[in-house]
This record gives sequence, structure tokens and C-alpha cells, in this order.
Amino acid sequence: MTRTDAANRGLFITLEGPDGAGKTTQAALLVRALQERGISVNETREPGGTRIGERIRDILHDLGHQEMLSPTEVLLFAASRAQHVGERIQPALEAGQTVVCDRFAESTLAYQGYGRGVDLDALRRITQFATGGLRPDLVILLDLDASAAMERRRRDEQSNGILRNRLDRLDASFYDQVRRGYLEMADQEPDRWLILDAMLPIAMLHQAICERVEKLLADHGTVGDLD
Ligand code: TYD
Repeated sequence: MTRTDAANRGLFITLEGPDGAGKTTQAALLVRALQERGISVNETREPGGTRIGERIRDILHDLGHQEMLSPTEVLLFAASRAQHVGERIQPALEAGQTVVCDRFAESTLAYQGYGRGVDLDALRRITQFATGGLRPDLVILLDLDASAAMERRRRDEQSNGILRNRLDRLDASFYDQVRRGYLEMADQEPDRWLILDAMLPIAMLHQAICERVEKLLADHGTVGDLD
């Protein structure tokens, strides 16, 4: 890739954290802030984001699929991701769009790796194969401890019906491991991660995200104020 290609390429920003941390809310606010300053944004999510990916998502979420084995789960997430990167994310980035994605490969390492105990090196190899090596420019982690995550989920379940999907059937020790995984990954690459306390008010989180994205845009050669 030449220098000019790199400068014209859009930014790839992902949001991570436990279910109920507020990723969807913050993604929507960030997308609006970017669009308001004239940046073209492609907002998406995993698993899903493409027609094929959304069908894979249905298989992963189906409460009837209790017999699903960990390797099957890993490969379905990877299949959804491969389609997503090839069909949507990479072309959008090459067209200069900023991509804001609710979860990406770091979810696989945190949930399937640290959470379910699948070998991390195997997951990294599968991820490399699925993504062709594409990695986010910035991973925003909405950090929440296990008890707060469980409490938010319980409230959500009460308002939306009992269990939302198969992947929701997990306990506090699982979330502890997932959280440990996220924090370990963030610690290893502080330049690529922004860790935020998900208990902070929505507006404060949004401001912190805008400040960091602002810096990223400036480093990337796009100047001007977000927000
Ligand atoms: P979703 O309904 O999108 O939940 P959330 O609002 O928390 O993102 O379901 C996604 C679930 O799939 C969530 O529990 C996290 C899990 N997941 C993995 O276990 N591995 C992965 O690679 C991805 C992308 C998601």
C-alpha cells in the first residue's frame, strides 16, 4: 500500500465489552458525530453485517442449538467474519469510509478463548485466516465487572422476555474470564485500545470516545472537531 492509499483509507473502529455495556448506544452516538463532520461511515456489527453473516448469526443465537460444540461456534463466528471483512469492511475502508463495528475478532479471543478456554493460538490463526490480517485501528472497550454485567443483563431479560439468545446463557465466572481477557489484550497494545468504565454516564463516555477518535483522525491526516 502506498502512502496515499493509506491516507485515503478509512478508519476501522470497533466496540467491545460484555453484553449490556452500552456498545450499541455509543456506536450510534459516534456514528452521528462522525457523520455530522462530513465523514462517510459504515456502521455494522458481528456476528452478522452481511446477508450470509446474519444467517450465521441466527444459527449461533438459536436457543434450540444447545448441543453446539465450541469448535463449531468458533468456526461460525470466523465464517461470519470472513464474509464480513471481504464483502463489506475491506471495500468500505478502501473506498475511504470509516467503519464502526459492534464487536470484532477481539470478541472471539475474549469469549471463546478466555471465556470458554479454547486455545488462544488456534483462535489467532483462525482469525488471521478469516480476516486476512485486517485489524481495527482502535478498539473501544466498555469495561464492566461481572456482577454489573449480570445485573444489566437480568434487567434486560426482564424487560425483553426471558433469555434473548443461546449466547446469553452464561454465568458470572464466565464474564470474569471474558473481562480478564479484554483487559489483558488492552494492556498488551495500549495504543490500539481505549478502556472506559461502562458505569460512567453516557455523555461522558461519548466525550471520551470522541477525544480519542479525534486524535486518531488527526494522526490519520483528517483534521477538525468531532462533537
Ligand atoms: P448480541 O446479541 O449481538 O449481543 P451484544 O449486544 O452483547 O453484542 O450477541 C452477540 C453475542 O455473541 C455476545 O454474547 C458475544 C458473543 N460473541 C462471541 O462469543 N464471539 C464472537 O466472536 C462474537 C463476535 C460475539
